[in-house]
Amino acid sequence: MQTIRELDALRNCVGAWQAAGDRIALVPTMGALHAGHMALVTEARRHADRVVTSIFVNPTQFGPNEDLDRYPRREAADAAMLESHGCDLLWAPEVATMYPAGFATNVSVRGVSETLCGAARPGHFDGVATVVAKLFGQVQPDVALFGEKDYQQLAVIRRMARDLDIAVDVVGVPTQREDDGVALSSRNAYLGPDERIAARALPRALGAAADSIAAGDPIAGALLEARRRLSEAGFTPIDYVALVDADTLQDVPVAKGSLRLLAAAWLGRTRLIDNLPLELN
Ligand code: PAJ
Repeated sequence: MQTIRELDALRNCVGAWQAAGDRIALVPTMGALHAGHMALVTEARRHADRVVTSIFVNPTQFGPNEDLDRYPRREAADAAMLESHGCDLLWAPEVATMYPAGFATNVSVRGVSETLCGAARPGHFDGVATVVAKLFGQVQPDVALFGEKDYQQLAVIRRMARDLDIAVDVVGVPTQREDDGVALSSRNAYLGPDERIAARALPRALGAAADSIAAGDPIAGALLEARRRLSEAGFTPIDYVALVDADTLQDVPVAKGSLRLLAAAWLGRTRLIDNLPLELN
């Protein structure tokens, strides 16, 4: 597996593959890779002849008081993991390559960006949409893979690709979890041992709320009970616990159709997110 940091070299490499008729997959990441990311790489192999993974800790999607500086960086271990999972190319540009002097464009996806994490992290999804639009332009993939772990991000990227006529298939991959149910996340590394145990309450509270809503209990009561469980486990503040339409991410008045139950909450200095699908007839 090669590692490339310059745009010309990337174009040469991908261009040669395209000329040979190869189908190209892109897995965008910020590194500190784990089995969740590897599920995306493995799925990418099923969709394409060549797999490109990008590692870029994107400064524009971090707020002023967020964890940009302490975000884990370990490219050598990441590269070894990618190679062993059949990745063909690691695209790892420097910040100055991604955002050269004079960079002035912002991609902002209204609606789907504005609720949930968008409300709690102003500007975050503009940063994500802008860098992913750039990665699509740089790599020109036929297919790109994103985790359902970041469900709102997946919805934002789908909307952006549709709106900007970007000819890429956006594929969502189910959330990969530890044995105790906690979703794999680079940010789990910030948790102390007690916090890591407390983190189990997040998938459990969502699972219990999903069961309760599926059993016909009122939505508001089920969401309130999930909040209570999170508080009891030590999560504070709770940014949101919400049941929304799986496509539009708007609140639903009745529990029917393809829905998504999502939550974001803090354990100490660490913000965790999780979500579950809920299909109701
Ligand atoms: P990052 O947090 O590194 O995640 C990269 C991809 O891995 C995302 O699509 C994310 O949803 C997926 N992923 C993370 N944990 C997962 C898990 N437990 N199961 C399944 N998929 C998982 O998301 C980003 O980076 C950035 O916002 C990015 C899209 C790269 C733009 O900068």
